[in-house]
Amino acid sequence: MMSPGLVVVVLVVMAAAGQGKDLQGSLKLQHLRKTLLQGYDKEALPPTPVTVNVSQFSIRDLEMHEGAHRLSLHAWLGYSWYDQRLSWKAEDYGGAEMMTISSRDVWLPDFSVYNAGDAEATLLTSRFRVIVYPDGKVLYVPSLDLHYSCVADLTYWPHDTHNCTLKIGSWVHSGRHIDISVQKNFSTEVDDEVTKSPDGQMDTMEWKILNVNLKRLSKFYDCCTEPYVSLMVNIIVQREAPAFCWIIKTPAVCLVLLTVVLFILPPGAGEKIVFGGMNIILNLMFLIFTHGTVRNAPSHTPLLACDTSGTASTM
Ligand SMILES: *[C@@H]1O[C@H](CO)[C@@H](O)[C@H](O)[C@H]1NC(C)=O
Ligand SMILES: *[C@@H]1O[C@H](CO)[C@@H](O)[C@H](O)[C@H]1NC(C)=O
Ligand SMILES: *[C@@H]1O[C@H](CO)[C@@H](O)[C@H](O)[C@H]1NC(C)=O
Repeated sequence: MMSPGLVVVVLVVMAAAGQGKDLQGSLKLQHLRKTLLQGYDKEALPPTPVTVNVSQFSIRDLEMHEGAHRLSLHAWLGYSWYDQRLSWKAEDYGGAEMMTISSRDVWLPDFSVYNAGDAEATLLTSRFRVIVYPDGKVLYVPSLDLHYSCVADLTYWPHDTHNCTLKIGSWVHSGRHIDISVQKNFSTEVDDEVTKSPDGQMDTMEWKILNVNLKRLSKFYDCCTEPYVSLMVNIIVQREAPAFCWIIKTPAVCLVLLTVVLFILPPGAGEKIVFGGMNIILNLMFLIFTHGTVRNAPSHTPLLACDTSGTASTM
């Protein structure tokens, strides 16, 4: 039987050996990172054409600003490309299967939002770490705040659906240098929190995401003969606010009934004047109430607002 003292010594030696292995692995990675980044110019393109594979677009949060015709998204965009300068032989570095590097130190595609709401939102400046694999594959999944323009069609408000298109692409490089391809089985997961309220309470999230689709877009400009490639993300959102709906619908139905009553009354009745006056005042109040939304839709007047102003003017 081993004495307790011997057991402790054995355990300490084993722990030290384990730590030594960890330390060795970490030193190997450190050496690898140093070797890869030595003389690496992050401004220089990898051997071209660089094909950027887009594999993921996950929406974490979404907000629509109808007044400003903007959509604000918080999303994770996953894409990968090959940079041969960052490849290594796994067996030379203790079988290192992957490594992370700060994205400040390596070349990144200069992706920008083409239809950003303002200049500041154009550049995608998130700085996360990239994962590098022995064959030179670089995987980058930044978390992005995207603000871009989406003209709201409020014709069917408050049952409106919007098709908002986001365009992302390289700002200076043409398709000859940076190409984009969308992986066939790309994932467009939508965070549960976005679509469901966690405790069954009234959700502040007013929008339901019906569909997210990614597509590669290639476009020729007048100036140049080379194509410019971008990624098109189509997001279809539907307003989902039952309470909000009924605040609008009940008064509208009441106003219609009041108008009908007005027509049924005999021509000579004195009440006709009273009802007529009431009707016009209520219609105007309703218009003032819905004004906030109608103002946001200069190009597409909501049918609801057309209806009530229609009845008001036929009086
Ligand atoms: C991109 O996708 C193509 C085809 O699906 C594949 O052959 C290539 O290895 C992928 N590249 C990267 C960097 O993932
Ligand atoms: C949304 O808009 C894009 C571009 O304008 C179009 O290609 C796409 O078909 C539209 N989707 C729907 C469902 O209307
Ligand atoms: C897509 O398919 C590739 C191989 O065909 C697989 O490695 C990858 O995990 C898949 N991605 C998703 C998001 O399902």
